[in-house]
Amino acid sequence: MNEMNCDLSAVLLDEYRIQTRVREIGMQITSEYRGRIPVIIGILKGGVVFLADLVRSVSIPVELDFLAISSYGSTASSSGVVKIRKDIDVDITGRDVIVVEDIVDSGLSLQYIKDYLFKHSPSSLKTCVLLDKPSAHKLEVTFDYVGFEIGNEFVVGYGLDFNERYRNLPYIGILKEELYT
Ligand code: IMP
Ligand code: MG
Repeated sequence: MNEMNCDLSAVLLDEYRIQTRVREIGMQITSEYRGRIPVIIGILKGGVVFLADLVRSVSIPVELDFLAISSYGSTASSSGVVKIRKDIDVDITGRDVIVVEDIVDSGLSLQYIKDYLFKHSPSSLKTCVLLDKPSAHKLEVTFDYVGFEIGNEFVVGYGLDFNERYRNLPYIGILKEELYT
């Protein structure tokens, strides 16, 4: 058993469910972008594990890039103040862009990222999120591909962290409340 398992109150999504859904999204992207070469932008660091699996389920050529943002405030909730910590390297002007993010909570980070990338005039911009917490949205935010809708619990694993830990768990679990309250 994984040593980090004792910090979880439950496993929310096991490896099989995650991999099955990730493959479905990869196939959808493959068919929708056939004949084009999209730039897939992973949001560091949480989106990295999802992106790594997703792109291997996409069977058309793609380019990869990364954007790192930070939001200030406590680690278990987003403050909504967002800053770019690492910019993209690829020129996305006139390109088809797909943003890959781990989770949408308030929606503020994803909205900021979309507004920022739109300024570079991509020819299209779609968003792909692994997890969505619909009841936590603080603004109306839309995305094009979503893995799973979940409740308001704090989850870790498969890229998602608490204080930089648990990203390497191959599944997604609910972190025991006493560990972050
Ligand atoms: P938002 O701006 O409130 O939508 O927050 C998005 C960011 O907060 C995500 O990219 C995560 O880094 C972090 N976050 C929100 N909920 C969780 C969670 O349940 N587990 C781990 N990180 C989370
Ligand atoms: Mg994130």
